[in-house]
Amino acid sequence: MTTSPSSGLAEFGPDDERLLKAYLGERRHLVDEALRRALPVPERWPKTLHESMAYSLFGGGKRIRPVLVLAAFEAVGGTSDLPWDAALPAACGVEMIHTYSLVHDDLPAMDDDDERRGQPTNHKVYGEGLAVLAGDGLLTEAFGAVLDPDAYGGTADFALMAKVARGLSRAAGWLGMVGGQSLDLGMETPVDSHEQLAFLHRRKTGELFRFSCWAGAVLGRANEAACAAMGEYGETLGLAFQVVDDVLDELQDTTERADDAAETPSFPALIGLDASRTLASDLAERALRSLDGFGPEADPLRRLAWFTVHRDH
Ligand code: IPE
Ligand code: IPE
Ligand code: MG
Ligand code: MG
Ligand code: MG
Repeated sequence: MTTSPSSGLAEFGPDDERLLKAYLGERRHLVDEALRRALPVPERWPKTLHESMAYSLFGGGKRIRPVLVLAAFEAVGGTSDLPWDAALPAACGVEMIHTYSLVHDDLPAMDDDDERRGQPTNHKVYGEGLAVLAGDGLLTEAFGAVLDPDAYGGTADFALMAKVARGLSRAAGWLGMVGGQSLDLGMETPVDSHEQLAFLHRRKTGELFRFSCWAGAVLGRANEAACAAMGEYGETLGLAFQVVDDVLDELQDTTERADDAAETPSFPALIGLDASRTLASDLAERALRSLDGFGPEADPLRRLAWFTVHRDH
């Protein structure tokens, strides 16, 4: 792969895959350690709630969103004079929000799924009430993580922390993930056009991806144009990511899927599998172009765009 602006996804090869695998392994490790610091699982009453939160938070997620925070932070040069701790609170926060969204997404009132990541879903293990509360706990703690001045390794900047917390609330709330999820429930007019579906995906998935890349750039003290370009990359990548998620869901044995999930509006249902795969590649190419202004420090982000369309889970 070259890092010239003209290079596209077709130029990625086995070397990129190997480099990305190593990169993801290292960055995931940083995220896992920070999450364990941010959310210790106390052996104290009410123990089951703590276990339920940890069950989903440490249950084998790919950690894409927090890795995006770190990768964007690196891409704007954050690591040249700041420690990882400057970006890790936002990485932890977005992963907690993401995990809570999945715990609630799997509930009988939503997608009614029994399995996630090959394991029983949170409510299957702990019951629906505790799954609701585990989600609530993770949502609340996400803001605690971002707003904890002691978690920044001596680099806490209160104005930036407030900016990032506001960005996270927007991306997670009614203008973002929660808004998108509400459309998935099918209570509005049917979502049956490309534009409506793209809008839904942008809200339910794109906004948290946008936040991740934007926050990494903000915490890396990048200028506004660089933060905006990172946000653009993240949102487009998130859209591609959700299209691929729907393709992967569609390829799963339909007998494994709950009826509710099968009825969720999706690009494979609207335009078919092949056109959805093409759409995901086009979006990933577009995401890649948002990085044209960045140098080789952004290569992990470029490889993540490739990974988004080539992943198998
Ligand atoms: C699944 O997200 C839900 C979507 C928004 C598509 P991920 O595929 O990132 O979930 P984990 O955390 O890696 O399991
Ligand atoms: C979930 O979308 C998006 C969220 C914001 C939680 P899906 O319902 O497609 O996610 P999976 O397939 O259950 O992981
Ligand atoms: Mg869903
Ligand atoms: Mg679901
Ligand atoms: Mg899905």
